[in-house]
Amino acid sequence: MNPTLEVYGDLEALSRAAAAYVERATGTARAAGRGATTIVLSGGSTPRRLFGLFAGEYRERLPWKTIHLFWSDERFVPYDDPESNYGAARALFVDAVGIPPQNVHPVETDLATPAEAADAYESAIASTADPSTRILFDVALLGLGGDGHTASLFPGHEMKTGRLAAAVRGPAWRPPRERVTLTYEALNRTREVYFLVAGEEKREALAAVLAGATGGEALPAARVRGVERTVFLADRAAAPDGARV
Ligand code: 6PG
Repeated sequence: MNPTLEVYGDLEALSRAAAAYVERATGTARAAGRGATTIVLSGGSTPRRLFGLFAGEYRERLPWKTIHLFWSDERFVPYDDPESNYGAARALFVDAVGIPPQNVHPVETDLATPAEAADAYESAIASTADPSTRILFDVALLGLGGDGHTASLFPGHEMKTGRLAAAVRGPAWRPPRERVTLTYEALNRTREVYFLVAGEEKREALAAVLAGATGGEALPAARVRGVERTVFLADRAAAPDGARV
C-alpha cells in the first residue's frame, strides 16, 4: 500500500496526530483480542514532543500496562549517555507512565559488542512476537533524516538479509557511528508505520521519498512500508511544495 502524506501546521499538531494514531492502534489491538500493543520508537529530536504528550495528556489515555516498547535503532552508548535513544525516552516518559519494566525492550548496549547486542535484540523481538502471524510490531514511529535515512538505515549501506536487527556503522556526519538497527525486514513487519517529519531541512528528502524511487536506489525511508498503512506526518516546513495545509 502506497504511503500517504498528512501535513500539519507545526510539530505540536503533528505530534498530537501521532499520539492519536497510537491511541487508536491500542484500541484496535484490544478490539482484536490482542493482549498487547507493540510500539517501535525512533530516536533523534523530532519525537521528543510526542514523548512529552505520552508523559502528560496521554499518561492516562494509553493502556501502558499492555504496551511493549522497542526502538528502531540505538546508538551503542551507555543508557545515561546524552546520545542514547532509550535514555532520552526513559527520561521523557518511560519512567513516568507505569509501563511494566519487562515490557520495555531497549537494545542492550552494555553487552560487549554491537553484534552481540543485535543478536540479543533479535531474541527480545522473538520473545514478544505472536508465532501465529508474521507481524512483529503494531506501530512504528519513525524519523526521517535529511539524507533519507530512517532508523539507522543509511543510503548506500546495504543491509544483511534474513536478520531482524543488525549492527551497523553509521556515517561520520551522524555520530555515534556504532549502532544497532532494526532491518527493513523487521520494520516491514509492522502493521502501521508513521514517519514524524518536521523542519525545512527534511523537505527535500521527504519529497524524494514520496516520489517513491523504486528498487535499489530508493532512499531507506522509501523502502519501509507498514503492512496496513504508512503515513508521513509532516509539518508545513517539511511538506513538499503543493502539499501545504
Ligand atoms: C537516530 C534515529 C534516526 C532519526 C533521524 C531523524 O537514532 O538517529 O532513530 O533515524 O529518527 O535521524 O532525527 P531527528 O528527529 O533528530 O531529525
